[in-house]
Amino acid sequence: MNEAPRRDRGPRDPASPLVGANIVVAVTGGIAAYKAAELVRLLDKAGAHVEVAMTARAQKFIGAMTFQALTRRPVFTDLFSLTEEAEIGHIQVADRADLVIVAPATANAISRLAAGRANDAVSAIVLATRAPVLLAPSMNVNMWNHPLTASNVRKLVDVARYRVVGPGDGFLACRWTGPGRLAEPADIVEAAAHVLSPQDLTGTRIVVTAGPTYEPIDPVRFVGNRSSGKMGVAIAAAAQRRGATVTLILGPSALTPPVGVATMSVENTAQLQWALADATKDADVVVMTAAVADYRPAKEEKQKLKRGDLGPKATVDLVANPDLLAELGKKRGTKKTPLLVGFAAETDDVIGNAQKKLATKKCDLVVANNVAEAGAGFAVDTNHVTLVDTSGAEDVPTGTKYTVAHRILDRVVAIRKAASQPTGRRGKPATSGKPKGRPRPS
Ligand code: CTP
Repeated sequence: MNEAPRRDRGPRDPASPLVGANIVVAVTGGIAAYKAAELVRLLDKAGAHVEVAMTARAQKFIGAMTFQALTRRPVFTDLFSLTEEAEIGHIQVADRADLVIVAPATANAISRLAAGRANDAVSAIVLATRAPVLLAPSMNVNMWNHPLTASNVRKLVDVARYRVVGPGDGFLACRWTGPGRLAEPADIVEAAAHVLSPQDLTGTRIVVTAGPTYEPIDPVRFVGNRSSGKMGVAIAAAAQRRGATVTLILGPSALTPPVGVATMSVENTAQLQWALADATKDADVVVMTAAVADYRPAKEEKQKLKRGDLGPKATVDLVANPDLLAELGKKRGTKKTPLLVGFAAETDDVIGNAQKKLATKKCDLVVANNVAEAGAGFAVDTNHVTLVDTSGAEDVPTGTKYTVAHRILDRVVAIRKAASQPTGRRGKPATSGKPKGRPRPS
């Protein structure tokens, strides 16, 4: 995505880019204007400071009072209001905005914005702001498909550097079916979060492995583990939001991969190994979150084993799986190897064991967690990890897996930055940008 000119207000936490952000929702006159109320509510709930501007036509579909109640702030409706404009309000709103979202953006509004008009509260704020502008179009399908609308949108994207979310495809209020529906409010919020997130992984190709492996015994049985894939999927989503090109290699998991992330689904270690060999060819970073089985059954039965087949006392012979992370580590120095991040699922001496894995698997970073701790490890939505590298151990407090994912990526960014500096040493960041916590007792 292209960057719009923007005043520097200091870095936003990529884990919660909407918190404290000044967002103007500019509502124009289409039937989907009522959905802007839900958008405002979601942005407010996410911690943004929301102000609303409306055209006169938008007020025919939804009252300004609704937005005033949702935002607890005055709504901008009139460029010539003696009260709203006592201190040139539309310029103040435009100036303090971190983001302006035009939702719905009707064909008429898009045309006026593309012409650089500034004859109402919405167009004046959009033209005056230096913040990024996100358009959420909504109109009849034929209006959307019209070459003039297409050319106006292209102009707004190419010349003004505006971003566009949607429109969605479906049954429209005008009874036509096709593209023209306002994007879902939740998707507009996600697009807003994306625009406001630091894009410090742009141009970085990241491979993330996630989930368990199921090592087959026969067509219906397997040897597996309790990994849900949540941590790895959170890392993939977080990296994508920060601008990385992400490939997710996902073991058997009930999770839906994040939208826009190229996903390779695998079942067992052998498939994971093939997928990894392919995906890591030109990767800059590999994050091995997957709980790869250390052993697999020596033999995979082609037919289902029947109860009597194994007798009263059965054993399953296991053979060791290759250590995929260690294999990547072994390639170190022979050619340009990606930055390697391993995980260490431990139940005792967490930091000691993680340090051993850091050395034996030749990683740049090991993310250690005590899987026996409540609120950490497998299947839960939170995690508590320690980042272990050659510079020491940093405690990352318990948080959602998505927040923890960003703290891991903060460190990846810091290591890459240190490595790219002439005196920087691979694997030892100058600073992670966060104060070092005390090592967590295991
Ligand atoms: N790993 C791997 N291949 C394996 C086993 C593990 O690539 N066959 C990777 C995991 O993805 C993880 C790291 O190695 O990033 C550590 O995995 P973990 O299960 O904690 O450790 P193991 O190496 O299996 O050692 P142990 O089970 O003895 O702790």
